[in-house]
Amino acid sequence: MMGMGLHKRLLFGTLAVGCLLCVYVLALTLEMPLVPLYSFIQRTSSNSRDSEKPLNRQSNSDQLAYPPPVSTLHPPLKTHIVQKQVLDDGIPKSRSDDDDKARIDTKRATEKPVQAIKHAETSKSRSEEENKARIDIQRPTEKLVEAAKPTEPPFIGDFYMSEDIPPQTDCSDSIRDRVGKTEFGERFLENIPVLQWAKHATREQHQRLSRYPGAHGWEGIDFKTLVETLSVLNSSANWQMLDDWKTRDNKSECRRCALVGNGGILKNSQKGKEIDSHHYVFRTNGAVIKGFEQDVGSRTTHYTFSTNTLMNSIQSYAGAGYEGPPVSKETRYIFLPDHDRDYLLMKAAATHTLVESGREKGKNPMKYFGEDVSADKLKMYHPDFIRYLRNRFLRSNTLKTKYKYIYRPSTGATMLLAALHTCDQVSAYGFMTPDYKNYSDHYYDSSYHPVGFYANHDLRMEMDLWQQLHKAGLIRLYMRN
Ligand SMILES: *[C@@H]1O[C@H](CO)[C@@H](O)[C@H](O)[C@H]1NC(C)=O
Ligand SMILES: *[C@@H]1O[C@H](CO)[C@@H](O)[C@H](O)[C@H]1NC(C)=O
Ligand SMILES: *[C@@H]1O[C@H](CO)[C@@H](O)[C@H](O)[C@H]1NC(C)=O
Repeated sequence: MMGMGLHKRLLFGTLAVGCLLCVYVLALTLEMPLVPLYSFIQRTSSNSRDSEKPLNRQSNSDQLAYPPPVSTLHPPLKTHIVQKQVLDDGIPKSRSDDDDKARIDTKRATEKPVQAIKHAETSKSRSEEENKARIDIQRPTEKLVEAAKPTEPPFIGDFYMSEDIPPQTDCSDSIRDRVGKTEFGERFLENIPVLQWAKHATREQHQRLSRYPGAHGWEGIDFKTLVETLSVLNSSANWQMLDDWKTRDNKSECRRCALVGNGGILKNSQKGKEIDSHHYVFRTNGAVIKGFEQDVGSRTTHYTFSTNTLMNSIQSYAGAGYEGPPVSKETRYIFLPDHDRDYLLMKAAATHTLVESGREKGKNPMKYFGEDVSADKLKMYHPDFIRYLRNRFLRSNTLKTKYKYIYRPSTGATMLLAALHTCDQVSAYGFMTPDYKNYSDHYYDSSYHPVGFYANHDLRMEMDLWQQLHKAGLIRLYMRN
């Protein structure tokens, strides 16, 4: 009896200790790669709108949300995170751009440094002169150098390609003309390439941009893939944002663009007609139009997204009526390339083929962009442009945290700032305003959902930027108050 009991207890104890050891060893082994993952585990605050999104309910490691980082610019926001938490302060989320809030592929952040070094080395060994494009590196102005401090880490990379793109209009009251007289004059680079295209796919550029991860460079995009994808973007429609301007009747006046975010401030705004009366109408992510025309208009000339935000929008906002990107004769699609997924989907769309590999493998791009999609309807932001926006317009304190590699301007912010660099006049609707708490997250929410804040964007900083641009007279921001 005694012997048996002791034996059992011994066995049990050994098993328990063994298990604990296993867990401990596992934890040790996995700790490094897992650290970023922990932080992406979704917040489960019960009133979060995101928990209601179909995708977020799944515990798919590819689609996890993550908590906000420390930001010293703004007072901390009370949030709670379930798993191991790092963090504690909030970063606002934009109404214009909610979907990329959460689920950025987490792998890239962890792979970065190694890959960056590898690429830099391999490219260095071949010094080919393939670069026929006229490319000058624009050096930051003295003021910016001063502001940037000597200790600026290499991933910032505050220097960019410069390109001469002749102005399409002789608008006498354009943003480009006015910006020099404002506080934004110093940081505004008139000749930065907003879009990337065939001419940019050279060894020299690949070597230069392979240092920067995510949307800020080509790290992880091998040269072959880059050439194959960018070579399909080889017409003026690919480097001109407003490519059909010449075919429009009223070409001599200023090109007026309406930027439509998805913020709840648009609900019952009756702004639809005004929005549609602009020459160009830009929308992004989960832009539900049907049923909301009175408030948000019905035209879409430019639709901006990343492959990730597009897929998330389709899954998250189907219930609200979002069926995919708007499709019309005048609609162009602007990819924000976060990942090789974007290059692959873009190439498939341009060539009317199925996506050949990656997460979207086998998908038919015509399902998203219509049967008539062709290369001249597609555009893709240049990584220099995204990095420039991050460095000079939205240099968040997030860049001083462990989230520095996943932080980027939101899709809506990128869209607005791209218009600022390509349109003569810009009106912005449905972007976050200081009274954002008074409106639901989206104009199509059937009940109030608060705006949520995540680490990959600094929505409060974006909100402040819209206010500054509005006050400087560079954009007209729709506000209720
Ligand atoms: C792009 O088009 C030009 C001529 O229109 C051609 O010379 C060039 O080889 C093309 N580039 C690529 C990468 O296809
Ligand atoms: C410009 O021309 C287009 C096409 O003819 C027309 O639909 C639009 O109303 C015109 N816009 C303005 C502001 O006159
Ligand atoms: C928000 O709405 C309330 C009334 O619903 C109003 O009293 C308050 O002034 C509004 N706040 C802002 C910042 O507009």
